[in-house]
Amino acid sequence: MKKILFKIKDLKVPIIVGDNILKKINYQQYIRNKDVVIITNKTVAKLHLTKVKNVLKKFRVETYIIPDGERFKNTDTLNKIHNFLIEKNFDRQLTIIAFGGGVIGDLAGFAADTFLRGVDLIHMPTTLLAQVDSAIGGKTGINHKNGKNLIGSFKHPNAVIIDISFLSTLPKRQFISGLAEVIKYGIISNGSFLKWLNMNKENILNYKSKELLRVVSVSVKEKVNIVQKDEKEKNIRAFLNFGHTLGHAIESTQNYKGILHGEAIGIGMVFASAISVEKSTLTISDFNLITETIQNLQLPISLPREIKTSKIMNHLSFDKKKKLGKNNFVLLKSISKCFITDKLTTKFIQKMVETFQH
Ligand SMILES: NC(=O)c1ccc[n+]([C@@H]2O[C@H](COP(=O)([O-])OP(=O)(O)OC[C@H]3O[C@@H](n4cnc5c(N)ncnc54)[C@H](O)[C@@H]3O)[C@@H](O)[C@H]2O)c1
Ligand SMILES: [Zn+2]
Repeated sequence: MKKILFKIKDLKVPIIVGDNILKKINYQQYIRNKDVVIITNKTVAKLHLTKVKNVLKKFRVETYIIPDGERFKNTDTLNKIHNFLIEKNFDRQLTIIAFGGGVIGDLAGFAADTFLRGVDLIHMPTTLLAQVDSAIGGKTGINHKNGKNLIGSFKHPNAVIIDISFLSTLPKRQFISGLAEVIKYGIISNGSFLKWLNMNKENILNYKSKELLRVVSVSVKEKVNIVQKDEKEKNIRAFLNFGHTLGHAIESTQNYKGILHGEAIGIGMVFASAISVEKSTLTISDFNLITETIQNLQLPISLPREIKTSKIMNHLSFDKKKKLGKNNFVLLKSISKCFITDKLTTKFIQKMVETFQH
């Protein structure tokens, strides 16, 4: 069992990573009082809820189960959670456990931040994406009909408990999608990790415990390092958006259906690397290592033909992170050296998108 400390302002958030660790944790360290509400969804509850309840027998545990799906990450579900907490008369001593993927983490995190102006929160992420990305760094949020994650807050949990054994039930495609963020950390801040990912692809894809523990713990450390330096995304936290400018545009052309986030990001990362070769100092051999790793970990590396360039161009102009009508692209000077530019012309981006289809 590994403990990684995330230090932010005067807070220290322990992030515990291990394989089959639920029984080994002293929960009283992280839970102030007896009252605990586990927020989860139907899928995760069916597979894993009993295990979690079994280790929390010293507490008064209630569970709130929501339906499965990104479309439930909205004000309606948030309202229902608030109603439940109010009807049950919970007070500020409550601890909410967000038990599930990124949807649950974002929703339950926001509920914990807003109920009675803030109660305690523990993240217990169960997807690879949530373990390496969404449960780390304190962002919470819900979607609005006009866009994803438009409403939210920063809320740091008392602890993040990452048990990789939950991943054994995760559908392969979801697992691979989560690997896109893992590869991203390799590209933007840890070149030797990127090489290691490429070399250990088989064991990783076969959920081998030793390799999976390294995948998760290195990723967590990389994200912690970046967010500790820039919590509110004033500068380097934006590097975490590497691959996401095109990735988000791809996802929104598909109405966030059919293609998974990591699949779109895989394509977006190859795209940003190709631009970096054109416009910057990224070498062909670094570009090849990036592309090969993404491909070896079974993620797509080019744009499906049915997604038309014109659609991508339309959606690029609506990217949420765009400032003053310009698209910000995170590019590479080399592996682990990023910079951000808004100087790419529409004409150049369009030409690059066109050459990028298969
Ligand atoms: N807060 C942040 O910093 C941040 C960062 C990245 C993404 N996000 C958000 O995270 C969300 C995506 O998260 P996600 O990819 O985890 O999606 P998700 O929460 O929808 O989970 C994906 C699917 O896997 C299922 N699942 C979860 N754990 C499982 C398990 N152990 N076994 C079997 N099935 C399991 C879920 O029920 C769901 O069907 C998005 O809403 C995104 O906006 C937030
Ligand atoms: Zn992402």
